[in-house]
Amino acid sequence: MNRLNTLPTYPRHPGATDEELRRTAADILAANWANDHTVPSRTLYPHQWSWDAAFISIGLAHVAPDRAWHDLRSLFTAQWPDGRVPHIVFDPGVAECDYFPGPAYWGRPTTGIVQPPAHAIAAWEIYRRRPDEAALRELRWLYPRLVAQQDYLTDYRDVGGAGLSSIVHPWESGLDNSPSWDATLAAVPVPVDPLAGYRRRDNQVGAVDHRPTDLDYARYITIASAYRDGGYRDAELAARHPFLVECPAFNALRGAAELALAEIAAVVGADPAGHRDRAAAITRALTDRLYNPDTGMFHARDVRTGRSSPARCVNGLVPLILPDLPAAQVAGVVAAAESARFGLAEGLAVPSYDRTAADFDPLRYWRGPVWINVNWLLWRGLRTHGRVERAATLRTAMLDLIRSAGCYEYFDPGTGEGIGAAAFSWTAALALDLLAEG
Ligand code: SER
Repeated sequence: MNRLNTLPTYPRHPGATDEELRRTAADILAANWANDHTVPSRTLYPHQWSWDAAFISIGLAHVAPDRAWHDLRSLFTAQWPDGRVPHIVFDPGVAECDYFPGPAYWGRPTTGIVQPPAHAIAAWEIYRRRPDEAALRELRWLYPRLVAQQDYLTDYRDVGGAGLSSIVHPWESGLDNSPSWDATLAAVPVPVDPLAGYRRRDNQVGAVDHRPTDLDYARYITIASAYRDGGYRDAELAARHPFLVECPAFNALRGAAELALAEIAAVVGADPAGHRDRAAAITRALTDRLYNPDTGMFHARDVRTGRSSPARCVNGLVPLILPDLPAAQVAGVVAAAESARFGLAEGLAVPSYDRTAADFDPLRYWRGPVWINVNWLLWRGLRTHGRVERAATLRTAMLDLIRSAGCYEYFDPGTGEGIGAAAFSWTAALALDLLAEG
């Protein structure tokens, strides 16, 4: 039997009860709190990560709203004057040798790249759970900063000129080694010795088979160094940067962020209309430029070559979170998610990559494993578009995985085994959110 290409049966032993899972998840978030922010994992990710902070704060809203706001405040305190929110804020108390590439590499106390803008959604979620005076103060503080984050992505990153933001590094997508970037990365030159000049830390604390390859890493460093050596300036990206890609999930989150900002604007006394217009424009650009009716999915687009990635990856399902997505695209994405490629109709959480693809790898990071954050987004998208029963099944599938295996970073889509980092913050956080929506 080909384990890679058949639909699996997850372990169906009952695992933790709701109450036990709630307690475990809250304990993980408490244990991963580090003075003024939550780390994704004590071992693999010992600093603050941007999109992790958004998902983590959504879970913290249920058990520790003060920490939820504090996490976002810490992240946005590190926002750059141009509006970019860095993908990692380094903890000065953590030794340089405990994470690579750390502050010495980037030449700053943060990285110079960004991650998907999930934070306005998070801020709105925390507020709507407990809309008291303290929450309103936090929302007022965050609103202009969230707007500046969106403005940066619009004003500096629309390299393709069609209303979509380009990412300048696979790390900016959050889906580091997704097959979405394979064709673009293949054209990035690598040094003869891919490991010359640095030592990977991730492979010392995580399983080698579960992490990106050395060749991937060599390209990650080449691209990051090009951006760093250009002073993190975006003005000349089109002329010389080796990696410029429009990611459907990144842009869908950017659109959804505008809708969250419209809600926030109404509460803080700003004008919601502009945000709604911007969300509509992003949705239109996504459907015009990244949707493929033949696959029923959205595909990443290389801005340099104009080519669309043929890979069917989970980021191509995420635009379902947009409420104005045209009905044909909603139907296409739901059908793709339900197909044997992603397994939703079998009652499974979706893998990060098409199960039927020849190079599907159930263990290697974003090339197969199930991740809870993108499934959580899909769950929201299904509810947004009235697919209530499918959403309920997906919620059960996610919770079953976490109950059985624990709050792992990701899960083997064949066996349901937890892989990557144990006690992973966003899995714990989103489990709390799913439990609250039972
Ligand atoms: N996800 C990358 C890492 O593994 C960078 O954000 O460290």
